[in-house]
Amino acid sequence: MKENISINLKNTGSFIAYEEIFALAQQSVRHLDTLNNGTGSGNDFLGWLSLPEDIIPQLDRIEKTASHLRSVSDTTVVIGIGGSYLGARAIIEVLQQTFPSYIKSKHHEILYAGQNICEDYLSDLLEILDTREYSIIVISKSGTTTEPAIAFRILKDHLEKKIGKPAAADRIIAITDSTKGALRSLSEINGYETFVIPDNIGGRYSVLTPVGLLPIAVSGMDIRTLVKGAQVMEKDTRHKKNASSNPVLMYAAARNLLLQGGRPVEILVGFTPRLHYMAEWWKQLYGESEGKEGKGIFPASVDLTTDLHSLGQYIQEGQRIMFETIVSVQNPRKKLTIPKEKDDSDQLNYLAGKRISEVNKSAEIGTVLAHNDGGVPVITLTVPELNEFYVGQLVYFFELACAVSGYILDVNPFDQPGVEAYKKNMFALLNKPGFEEAGKILRERLK
Ligand code: PA5
Repeated sequence: MKENISINLKNTGSFIAYEEIFALAQQSVRHLDTLNNGTGSGNDFLGWLSLPEDIIPQLDRIEKTASHLRSVSDTTVVIGIGGSYLGARAIIEVLQQTFPSYIKSKHHEILYAGQNICEDYLSDLLEILDTREYSIIVISKSGTTTEPAIAFRILKDHLEKKIGKPAAADRIIAITDSTKGALRSLSEINGYETFVIPDNIGGRYSVLTPVGLLPIAVSGMDIRTLVKGAQVMEKDTRHKKNASSNPVLMYAAARNLLLQGGRPVEILVGFTPRLHYMAEWWKQLYGESEGKEGKGIFPASVDLTTDLHSLGQYIQEGQRIMFETIVSVQNPRKKLTIPKEKDDSDQLNYLAGKRISEVNKSAEIGTVLAHNDGGVPVITLTVPELNEFYVGQLVYFFELACAVSGYILDVNPFDQPGVEAYKKNMFALLNKPGFEEAGKILRERLK
């Protein structure tokens, strides 16, 4: 049997006692029960809990659609924002070649739109798409979110002008609600192939639905192994009532005790740029799930060693408001050693023959010790390798821990009421029908 992702709490030891973590973790078994029985707040949104099994019947169609897009185009633009964007990007960027645009051999490129409202971004994207044979996957559960809706209107128009309406319809896939929303009606009118985001799965818990799996499959990754990894983590955690052997309970308990001990900021740390978007996905998952009613841990992230030459100074010596969670990857996917030089003019021969990963691991261990000495508690999550199997485990691990953690905080981890505030103001300022009165009030306020 393959080794699983594991948690190490020894570097939180001088801040919180293991016994305290264990006690809260054991008490939190009731939150697992609440999730499994569907008796807690947000219980209409628990479909993700059993997705690792439930999604299997859809994998054939997802793979078939992915190979169709790969056969008719060289690029796919994934349009979406928040939970309809970050999961796919996180996993694709963990698994793919770091410099995909420069690969000359048969490579299908994934580009993204609808995650901002930047005129320059969209204009630059159109310039690139002028030269590409591209497809579009447009993702919006509500089907009405402004950012992806604008991007889709522009790209759909561009693609239809470039290859004609019928050919464009063959290259556009929509992932949305089964009945509601503008994207559903648009798809019906234009005859797009569609996938459904189930009612009982919120955006940020949807990466193991077609929302994440279709773009990931189009990028050429193995979604079956990804789902297998999630299944293994589900088996290992969802019903496991012995807290000390359930990393989900231990992680949720440790981070909540650190919060109670005066650490309102959690920094997710990776020692590889492959993890950059995984941290973006994690920030969205935890930020939207926990940050409400004046509660929650603020999720931040750093890429190390890069940021040791930037935020590292603050982490080492600034205000003691944070703790770190390191995603510690044991084995790189590729091999590179440092060469020996005859005259050693750069004085690096002491590293000659060593793998880059050995140097990186020393930097990681050195950083954990230094941050601990500087008063920063560190939780370590050990991941054997960044492949589909372990990434699937990581996804399920973070989702379940987030839900348990939200219940420890006594918030509904499945809603995001605060996201509406900026939308209302934006609609009012843009005179969206129905928002005219609010617009007048806002314009007065801005005078
Ligand atoms: O996690 C969430 O629910 C949100 O981040 C949504 O995914 C995001 O707001 C996009 O919504 P939609 O998929 O309806 O366009």
